[in-house]
Amino acid sequence: MENKRYQQSKILLARASKVLASGVSSEFRKYNHPHALFYDYAKGSMIRDVDGNEYVDFTLSQGPLILGHSNQGVLDAVDAYSRQGQLFAGQHVQEIELAEKMQELIPSAELMRFCLDGSEAVQTALRVARSKTKKNLFLRFEGHYHGWLDNVAYGISVPAEGFGSRENPNRSPWSAGLAQESADEFILIPWNDAALLEETILKHKDQLAAVITEPIMCNNGCILPKDGFLSKMRALCSEHQIALIFDEVITGFRMGLAGAQGYFNITPDLSIFAKAMGSGYPISAIVGLRDWMEELSSGRVIHAGTMNASNPTVAASLATIQELEADKEVYNRLFSLGNTLKEGLQALAKKHQQNLLVQGPGPMINTSFTDLADVTEYREVLQADKAKLNAFISQLHDEGIRVIGRGLWYISAATRMEDVEKALRAADIVLSKL
Ligand SMILES: Cc1ncc(COP(=O)(O)O)c(C=O)c1O
Repeated sequence: MENKRYQQSKILLARASKVLASGVSSEFRKYNHPHALFYDYAKGSMIRDVDGNEYVDFTLSQGPLILGHSNQGVLDAVDAYSRQGQLFAGQHVQEIELAEKMQELIPSAELMRFCLDGSEAVQTALRVARSKTKKNLFLRFEGHYHGWLDNVAYGISVPAEGFGSRENPNRSPWSAGLAQESADEFILIPWNDAALLEETILKHKDQLAAVITEPIMCNNGCILPKDGFLSKMRALCSEHQIALIFDEVITGFRMGLAGAQGYFNITPDLSIFAKAMGSGYPISAIVGLRDWMEELSSGRVIHAGTMNASNPTVAASLATIQELEADKEVYNRLFSLGNTLKEGLQALAKKHQQNLLVQGPGPMINTSFTDLADVTEYREVLQADKAKLNAFISQLHDEGIRVIGRGLWYISAATRMEDVEKALRAADIVLSKL
C-alpha cells in the first residue's frame, strides 16, 4: 500500500533520478524509509522533510552533528570567516588555531594535516605508514568501515561463499569496479580476538606497515573492545615497527575531546578525525606522533588537495570544538542521555518479550534483534534478524523517530530528555506490534 506521508519526497525523487544516479549523492542515502527522502529544515535535535513530517533526529547526518543541527555558534563563525574569503590556496590563521587546539586536546596529535573527509585521510595515513616502515601490507578487521575507496572496500559485506576461516577470511568486494590488486593490499581478520591478532601479526610482521582499527566498532554493532585488546594491539605494533592507526572518524569528539584514545588511554601512532570535528562541513584530519608525521613534513609523502582547510570548514571546526569545550557538562549529557535511552529500550524489550539487544557506550548506541546476550564481532552482528530491524526502524520513522538503518543511534549536545522520552514512547508502540 502506498505511504502518502512521503508523497512530495517521492515526486522529488522521481525528478532527481533523471539527473542524479538513482537520485542521490551518496549510496547510503538511498536506504531511507520508504525511499530516499528530501528535507527542507533542521534545527537542534529536529529535522523536517518536504512533506512536513518532523523527526527527532538520531542519525545526526551519520554522525557529524555533535552539536545538533544548525548550531548558532557554528553558523556565525562560518559566516564571519567566509566573509574574509573562501579559499586562499595559501595558509590562514584559523588553520593554525585549529591545529593548536587539536594538538592540545588529542594525545597523539603532535602534528597534523587537514583533508576533506574520512576516506582520504585514511589513505593518507596508510601512505605515511608505508613510507616510514618501508613495508606494504596493512591489517584490518571484518566489519570495520574505513571509507569507500578500493583497498578498504572489503570485509564489510558477507561473501557469497561465506566468511571462510577466521585466520584467512574470504574477502568479498563491497563494490564492482575495484582494482583487482586492492585485495592484495591488506590482511583481514575478525576483531576483538587478541590471540588471533597476535598470531597474525607475528606471522606477517615483516610485511605489515600498519594495523588500522576503529577503537570502538561503531559501524557494525557499536561494539566496545574487549579488556586488553587495544593495549595488546598497541604493544604488538610498537614491538614490530608497525603503525597503529586509530580510525576516530566516529569516536573523535564524540567519546570526549580527546577521542577514544583519551577515553581508553591508548595513544596510536596515527589517527583520523572527521565527522564530529566539523559539524557537517567537509573537514577531516590525519594526526600523529611527530616521528611518523615527519614522512609528511619531509615531503617524502605527498598529501595535497585544492579544497583542503577552506575558511568555512576550518571556522566550523574551530567553533564546534569551542562550543564543546565551553559546555562543561556536554559529555556527561551525551553519556547519560544515551544510557537512559539504552536502558529504556532494554526495559521495553523485556516488557514486550522482544529479542532486542542494545549496546554501545552512550554517545552512540546500537539496536539489533538477536538471541545472543552480547555481540562482540562482525560475524555475530550478521546473525541478527535484519528484516525485524528494518521493520523496527521503519515503524519508528513513521512515529517521528529517525535512526540510521543499520540500527545506530547518535546523541548530540542538542538532544534533550524529552527527545529520549519521545523515542521510548515510539519504541513502546512499535515493539508491541512487531
Ligand atoms: C570509521 C569510519 N572511517 C571512515 C569513514 C569514511 O569517512 P567519509 O565518509 O567522511 O569519507 C567513515 C564514514 O562513515 C567511518 O565511519
